[in-house]
Amino acid sequence: MKIKDKLKQSVGWAALQYIKSNQIIGVGTGSTVKYFIEALNSIKEKIDGVVSSSDHSSDQLKKLGIPIYNLNNLNELAIYIDSADEIDMHMQMIKGGGGALTKEKIIAKTAKKFICIVDSSKQVDILGRGPIPIEVIPMARSLVAKELIRLGGLPEFRKNVITENGNNILDIHNMKIIDAPLLETKINNIPGVVSVGIFAQRKADIVLIGTEEGIKIIK
Ligand code: A5P
Repeated sequence: MKIKDKLKQSVGWAALQYIKSNQIIGVGTGSTVKYFIEALNSIKEKIDGVVSSSDHSSDQLKKLGIPIYNLNNLNELAIYIDSADEIDMHMQMIKGGGGALTKEKIIAKTAKKFICIVDSSKQVDILGRGPIPIEVIPMARSLVAKELIRLGGLPEFRKNVITENGNNILDIHNMKIIDAPLLETKINNIPGVVSVGIFAQRKADIVLIGTEEGIKIIK
């Protein structure tokens, strides 16, 4: 196993310490969460079940026999565990590399506690090292792209990708992120934007960082 995968695996397992008996757990998406789901399998008798942020995670959860709940049927969700593409020192994140950003944002907003699990390569001084994913309604793709250029970004259409909600993804390159919550609002306000992969208004509450020296916890 590559070192990066070992770090992802170690934070995936470390997240178990935050799970209490009889809880329903919000589960994210991606290569780090894959390890978290493996870890969750080892305590599946202890939890009531999960809410899943993607078909991909749901497939893995179903194979393990972990019950999946509809978010609309829950009164509350205590905890959400997911990774990020980038995370800064304020626990603000860029997410959506895997295209599941909208469901991830819904679950993050619902959950009382968001625990972000990352390997150390995801840490950045300033968000925007890589592209910002944006889910857009297909009809609005051109309008949104023009507005994003006006905001200083370089939008790229993610070809051959239709999200689980039937929409397109634009990846925004070269965007200077000085005020992440403000930029999140500005992009959210463009008609046709379903959601933006800046998670600055609902950021993480606890971050577990897998490093070669062990797990660092930031609260
Ligand atoms: C999925 O849409 C994303 O938000 C992922 O959570 C994020 O891209 C991190 O994924 P990896 O663990 O695969 O790096």
